[in-house]
Amino acid sequence: MSELAILGGSKTRTQPYPEWPVWDQRDIDAVTEVIRSGHWGGFPYPGPKTAELARKFAELQGGGYAVPMANGTVTMEVACRAAEVGWGDEVIVPAYTFQATAAAPMAAGAIPVIVDIDRNTYCIDPKTIEKALTPKTKAIIPVHLGHQMADMDAIMALAEKHDLIVIEDCAHAHGAKWNEQGAGTIGHFGSFSLQSSKTLTTGEGGILLCRTPELAAKAASIIDCGRPHALGGGPEDKSMDFQIGGNYRLSEIAAALALVGIERFPAQANQREEMAAYIDESLSEIQGVRVLKRDLRHTTRSFYRYMFAIDPEDFGVERDVLCAALDAEGVGCWVGYEAMHNYALFQPRKSRLAVPSAFPEYFKFEEMNLPEATRACEHEAVWLDEAIFRCGPEGVDDAVAAIKKIRKNAKELTEAEQKLREQ
Ligand SMILES: Cc1ncc(COP(=O)(O)O)c(C=O)c1O
Repeated sequence: MSELAILGGSKTRTQPYPEWPVWDQRDIDAVTEVIRSGHWGGFPYPGPKTAELARKFAELQGGGYAVPMANGTVTMEVACRAAEVGWGDEVIVPAYTFQATAAAPMAAGAIPVIVDIDRNTYCIDPKTIEKALTPKTKAIIPVHLGHQMADMDAIMALAEKHDLIVIEDCAHAHGAKWNEQGAGTIGHFGSFSLQSSKTLTTGEGGILLCRTPELAAKAASIIDCGRPHALGGGPEDKSMDFQIGGNYRLSEIAAALALVGIERFPAQANQREEMAAYIDESLSEIQGVRVLKRDLRHTTRSFYRYMFAIDPEDFGVERDVLCAALDAEGVGCWVGYEAMHNYALFQPRKSRLAVPSAFPEYFKFEEMNLPEATRACEHEAVWLDEAIFRCGPEGVDDAVAAIKKIRKNAKELTEAEQKLREQ
């Protein structure tokens, strides 16, 4: 009988990891209060809960003018539009991210230019940004991926030199800090998602942090059907002109949930940080595992999920096989995103979207050479569920024990997998 759960052995972890999102009576009370108030939606913008959320979220991240909105995709579209990045402008995005990072600038009419990542951090590589710059480049969207942060010093230096807008995609970076400065407050904008899987969630929602009160007023107007708003994204200012906008407002019910989430957030973030330091150390002892480099300027880490890399040859199994085996051991994990140039989504004939149809020369994915993103996506990256950090050292110990067990039985697992493939 095999030791491995995937081959019929017993599971390393028999207890399920804790569920997400966590909630208690405070969430029920907060939602009940909004229901009783009759002010459910986001109009007039900003409602009392939304205004409070804007204030408290900017405080949490340590700066900026926060404009809560429908999700963490429109945040980036709105950022482009507020900064007047639009039709035919080039926006540099990393190859390793969720599709929203490239879809959002396209929704604003801009062209995503996909560049490679840094092998050590899995975030956008500033050297590849520099190579991709053209006179049409107007913005960069670095993504702070998983539990990492992009090199914001190098990115801001490039942006200043070439007069570019920086929109930090912080969908995974609530609470993170670079040189003690909050993620999302370093660039011109910080885009946050509050979708169900995120470490601060309302089910669905997003927040755009803007560097200036003027940009926040523009963003508030764009998400409130074009109604003019006061500086900082405050109430409607009828003395000003309308602009083109849509309804991307956050509901008051969602804002109330986010406010309770913010109360819980600091304790959760501390626990994740503590347990992550512990897992870094434990994983670094396993042959074939590479713990991603921690940049010392990344002073506070946040953990949407915890990423590590394997060398499949040294570890003894392919990455996809490791993930399947880990799941079977009771340790939730994920193989991560596909490399952006492999997404069928943006191919002109398939999507029929305006930008790829008008600029097909930017979407020749088969000609793109993105070796680091390809290696991470197809062979190396393992994303452990954040839940392993929420039950103390014992949760991490189980995850590490499962990885060690798979490593020890790698030969048997690979042989079984090969047999299955031949059938
Ligand atoms: C890196 C990244 N950017 C943007 C988004 C988009 O956020 P939302 O789902 O709230 O639109 C996500 C969501 O999963 C994400 O992971």
